[in-house]
Amino acid sequence: MKGVILAGGLGTRLLPLTKITNKHLLPVYDKPMIYYPLNTLIKGGIDDIMIVTGGNNAGDFLRLLGNGSDFGLKHINYTYQEGHGGIAAALSLAEHFVDGEKIVVILGDNIFEDNIESAVKEFEKREEGAKIFLKKIKDPTRYGVPEIKGNKIIKIEEKPKNPKSSYAVTGLYMYDEKVFNIIKTLKPSARGELEITDVNNAYVKEGTMKYSILNGLWTDAGSSFESYYRANKWVAEGLISIF
Ligand code: DAU
Repeated sequence: MKGVILAGGLGTRLLPLTKITNKHLLPVYDKPMIYYPLNTLIKGGIDDIMIVTGGNNAGDFLRLLGNGSDFGLKHINYTYQEGHGGIAAALSLAEHFVDGEKIVVILGDNIFEDNIESAVKEFEKREEGAKIFLKKIKDPTRYGVPEIKGNKIIKIEEKPKNPKSSYAVTGLYMYDEKVFNIIKTLKPSARGELEITDVNNAYVKEGTMKYSILNGLWTDAGSSFESYYRANKWVAEGLISIF
């Protein structure tokens, strides 16, 4: 399977740190933030990877990651998102690269302790559909939140005021080749973005969305100073280590 890391967007929630750089290049303790999702994909057995980035500092990704040889890769593919049309808009730019295969998508600010290798292998064998990864947290109002009946997700709400469960949808997604057709049907949300939650709800509606609950630590380091600090602390304490 191929992997896509989404590292565009404005990073406004970490201003002024992101005034002069892309948030995914900021340090998380001793490594740049993007190393963490890159590590998750590579340790998961994915070695054909595209990075979608944008903004004024896109060239710095090349300087940092080069052709991927530091990480044992043969090459890295890059593409550029004009503007900040949302996670699904960023993903749509990977259509040519993916070329009809199944994919693993990871958000460039998400930091996972879990190894995804067995999940990747399992998804590879599936005929169709999608898979998301949930994490139980205290206050899921800042995230996509699933409503679960029995052991099925019946709907996902993006940043709900009254969450229907105590799970956050983390920034790790597995999709079949239909995902790009689904994105083409989306309309911008109230925040003016093509939402990944709408993509996921299309699979929920189709009855082909599966999920797993993560046991390990997870945070989205780029969404608040609190979660950015938490990520740094976990790495400094050795709870998360990469490469
Ligand atoms: O972290 C998990 C959460 O990520 C999910 O629970 C939510 O359902 C999902 O919508 C997303 O929420 P955020 O509002 O926190 O996403 P954010 O705008 O921070 O974007 C996440 C990553 O996606 C970011 O690190 C870079 C990438 N991105 C984002 C946008 C808006 C792009 O590449 N291009 C974009 O236009």
